[in-house]
This record gives sequence, C-alpha cells and structure tokens, in this order.
Amino acid sequence: MPSSFNRRGESAPRAVPLSILSCCCALLVALLACAPAGSFSLAVHAQQSQTVKQGVYTEEQAKRGQSIYKDRCSSCHGETLEGRLGPPLAGDNFIGDWDKQPLSELVNKIRNTMPQNDPGKLTGQQAADIVAYILQVGKFPAGQAELGADEAVLKQVTWPAGNLAQPKPRPTATQASSFPPAGNLAQVMRGILFPSSNIIFTAQTLDPGAPRTTTDRAAAEGFNWITWGGGIYPGWELVDYAAVALAESAPLMLTPGRRCENGKPVPVDDADWVKFTVELAEAGKAAYKASQSRNQAAVSDVTNQVADACLKLPVV
Ligand code: HEC
Repeated sequence: MPSSFNRRGESAPRAVPLSILSCCCALLVALLACAPAGSFSLAVHAQQSQTVKQGVYTEEQAKRGQSIYKDRCSSCHGETLEGRLGPPLAGDNFIGDWDKQPLSELVNKIRNTMPQNDPGKLTGQQAADIVAYILQVGKFPAGQAELGADEAVLKQVTWPAGNLAQPKPRPTATQASSFPPAGNLAQVMRGILFPSSNIIFTAQTLDPGAPRTTTDRAAAEGFNWITWGGGIYPGWELVDYAAVALAESAPLMLTPGRRCENGKPVPVDDADWVKFTVELAEAGKAAYKASQSRNQAAVSDVTNQVADACLKLPVV
C-alpha cells in the first residue's frame, strides 16, 4: 500500500490486481418441466420467495462451483474460503455482511467484480455455481433444484435470521448514531487518500497557479475528474481541498467495524495505527496551511510529511 503513494503525482501504480465474475441462464423453466410432481409446487414457490436454508442449489452444482472456485478464486480467497489477499467467503463476518440482502447481490458482486484480477469473464451461471459452493461450505443444505442465474429469481432468495454462530452484538446508542463503514480500508484509502495525496504531490512539479492548458495529458487520458470537473476550481483551491480531504478523512482509518481488504478487522485500537492516523491528519493540516500560503515551495516541502505519514502505513 505505501507504494501507492508516489511523490510526484505520477499515474498510480497498479498496486493490487482487480477481479470479477459473471452469470445468467433460464434454467428454471427446464427445472419446472423436469421436476417430479411432488416438488413442482415447491419450485413454483421458489419463484416467489425462498431462503438459503431451503435447499436452493444442488450438490452437483456446488461441485461445479468448487472447481471454478479452485481455478479462479482460491489464490486470493484461500483453499477453504478462509481468506488470503481477499476476505474470507465463509464464516460470521462474511455471512453477516451479506445476509441483509437478497442472494442476487452476492451473485452480482461476483459476476461484476470478481476475480478481481480478471473481472467480467464469468457467465451468470458460473457465478451462481460458485455461490452454490459458498452456500455448501457455509452448511446451508442442498436441494432438488439448481440455483439459476435469473436476477428476478435470485432477488427472491433471502437469508433467514439467525445465521451467525455468534450473533453480532447490538449496536450501542453511540455506535448506532455513527455511520457504519461503506468500504474496506483499501477502498477508502484508494478513493480518498490516494487522489488527494497525489494532488498535493503534483504541486511539487506543477505550479498550481499556472494557467491551465487543454493539452494536459491527464485530461486526454479520460478516466479522471479532470475531464468533467477540471475547469471548476482553480489549481490552488484544488490543493486546498486535497489537503482538507486528507486531514478530515484520516479519522476514517479508525472507524470501528471497518475491515481490511483481506477481511481482517482494521487494528483501530493498535497504538501504531492510531499514531499513523494522527500523523496523517497532521500532515493534511500542514499541507492546508502551506497551500494557503499559495507558495509552491512551501507545499513542496510539506509533501515529505505527507509521504512519510503514508510510508509508515502498515500493509493493509
Ligand atoms: C486477485 C485476487 C482475487 C481473486 C482471484 C478473487 N478475488 Fe474476490 N476479492 C478480492 C479482494 C481484494 C476483495 C475485497 C474487495 C472487494 O470487495 O471488491 C474481494 C472480495 C470478494 C467478495 C466480497 C466479500 C465480502 O465479504 O464483501 C466476494 C463474494 C468475492 N471476492 C468472490 C470471489 C470469487 C467467487 C472469486 C473467483 C471467481 C474471486 N473473488 C476471485 C480479491 C480476489
């Protein structure tokens, strides 16, 4: 992670590969046609609503899912779904994250974003097969009908209450009034800290007060805020805002309940971690002060403090 913070606003090194999966298929009609009379009404019921405890996949399907998993997922999520670079896909933390939403969300997450280093390549059915395997490992029973990839049907499949071995403690009044994390630590850092730091680092080599040119390389590359918002705020203001973003977002490193990319909890009570957060917030404030001086050399000086705070960051 520290390597993502480069000192000169160069394009981001692709620190960690991204990944995804996909799926889709209309098995249900075939299933209904093939279903023995007794299970017919059950299958019809399945279209309305079903929980993962009611046998929503078959053993055979889970076996298919397992082989795709081994091939495409286990390097990051572990042979037994225990988590490695990516978070665990079994256990209370995993289930507790997904059991508030219909099963379609989990299938879509896999289909659209996994494997992280080669996303979008799985068919809908493959994603459903993998979910069948995940359910099997999670000890949810197999049944007579396969889990299809039809989104409307998957939306009807929910998780019943009481899936966790140890129910999550009820939030206290203080916790309930704060906002739960929306992303993991790496996502917060790449979404907020990384771009903001790079704006500050860019001030080392580009004068924020210089008139803009439309031939800016970053603008030509397309996928960045410059293409839609680059003309709105003058250069110095951008440095101001980036510095404020750093200072203000540092406490997000300490949000209770946030997980690292590998699913482990962020060590919010660890003294070194708290120290890192404080240093980052201070670096942001120092950068703001320097930016307010509208002096490029002053901002350039302070970038070392920002870089040092970032480089001290333990790997997340
Ligand atoms: C290159 C590493 C890598 C590979 C390969 C990979 N993943 Fe992931 N996966 C991650 C990372 C990192 C995250 C956390 C970030 C995120 O949620 O996007 C993640 C998150 C997930 C999540 C969300 C977990 C949660 O608790 O929020 C699911 C589900 C998932 N992956 C399934 C899969 C499946 C299924 C495959 C194989 C088809 C796969 N992944 C392959 C790295 C990987």
